[in-house]
Amino acid sequence: MTEHGHPPFKLDALDHVVLLVSDLQRTLDFYCDCLGAKVERRLDKIALVQLRAGDSLIDLIAYSTPEGAWAKSQVAGGGRNMEHFCLRIAPFDDAAIRGYLAKHEIAIADSSERYGAKGTGPSIYIKDADGNTVELKGPPKTDPAKPPHRIITTKRLTLRPIRFSDAEDLFAWCFSDEETMRYWSEPAHKEIDQTRAFVARAVGPTDQNCVWVITLGDDRAIGFISLYGRREKIIGLGYMLAREHRGKGFVTEAANAGLVFAFDDWQMHKVRADLDPRNLASAAVVERLGFTKEGVLRQDFIYNGDYVDAANYGLLRSEWIERR
Ligand SMILES: CC(C)(COP(=O)(O)OP(=O)(O)OC[C@H]1O[C@@H](n2cnc3c(N)ncnc32)[C@H](O)[C@@H]1OP(=O)(O)O)[C@@H](O)C(=O)NCCC(=O)NCCS
Repeated sequence: MTEHGHPPFKLDALDHVVLLVSDLQRTLDFYCDCLGAKVERRLDKIALVQLRAGDSLIDLIAYSTPEGAWAKSQVAGGGRNMEHFCLRIAPFDDAAIRGYLAKHEIAIADSSERYGAKGTGPSIYIKDADGNTVELKGPPKTDPAKPPHRIITTKRLTLRPIRFSDAEDLFAWCFSDEETMRYWSEPAHKEIDQTRAFVARAVGPTDQNCVWVITLGDDRAIGFISLYGRREKIIGLGYMLAREHRGKGFVTEAANAGLVFAFDDWQMHKVRADLDPRNLASAAVVERLGFTKEGVLRQDFIYNGDYVDAANYGLLRSEWIERR
């Protein structure tokens, strides 16, 4: 703590770095072809190309082009080639941040809504002692009519938005398997069309649902996680994983990333999970994630003609912030 107290936010991650580059193609060859980054977005009018590098972005400004000439003076005479870097922070309380920086006599060079690795959100520019520009960027603002639904990478997994073509893998490895479906809300699928119907409901996120398939980076769906049934700022969490991939912590890792999305991107107040109390593997997942068991609704849904109990678990935003 400084004499001015704690900052009114936590540093989350390095969101992006902005490099000034002389030869865009050579730089793309290096970052994309050699290192595996992918072009995500271009803003031609300022000669900006944004590359996806896992959970972060590498932004390139081609300063030798007419559109990038605005940045040229920064590299002239062997000057810097980093335009700025961005730290992701949460929460973003504009007034609290301004007050806090003022106490430290740090001037705000600029403030605006800007695009970062997690979408468009509030940001301010400040300078460090050496004159490097540091951007502090808050969680993205969400447009309820068009929720963001992005690829998420974790230590071992790539989670990508579900597609129609995932029905084949999900049917073969998950939905047709009696054991996997033992505690699901419907019995095992006999026909692939049943899985196609599930996928069709899940494709194309709405402001109430988002489904990501879990892949090991090879694009094949070995399971999925879902955020579903949003009402106000409360949303449900669901998941399923092919049998052969269980016992490795994949679902806990994927669901944890889903929680980051729910609480940071969608600014949820609470994430809930309903499960059959006999589903011990699922209860272990939510308990590992910090959920609290809130109660059991007796004989609350029907499975294969029998009434089945539903255990309700919940994770509040305050608990999430506390434990991360
Ligand atoms: C519920 C379900 C997703 C849990 O799968 P899971 O593989 O047990 O869960 P995780 O991916 O979190 O893995 C946890 C296990 O990996 C182990 N593990 C191994 N390596 C690990 C690592 N590097 N990190 C974390 N855990 C690791 C943990 O110790 C734990 O083992 P345990 O079960 O012996 O305690 C799975 O059983 C399933 O798909 N069931 C069918 C569908 C279903 O019921 N969905 C839920 C409906 S509510």
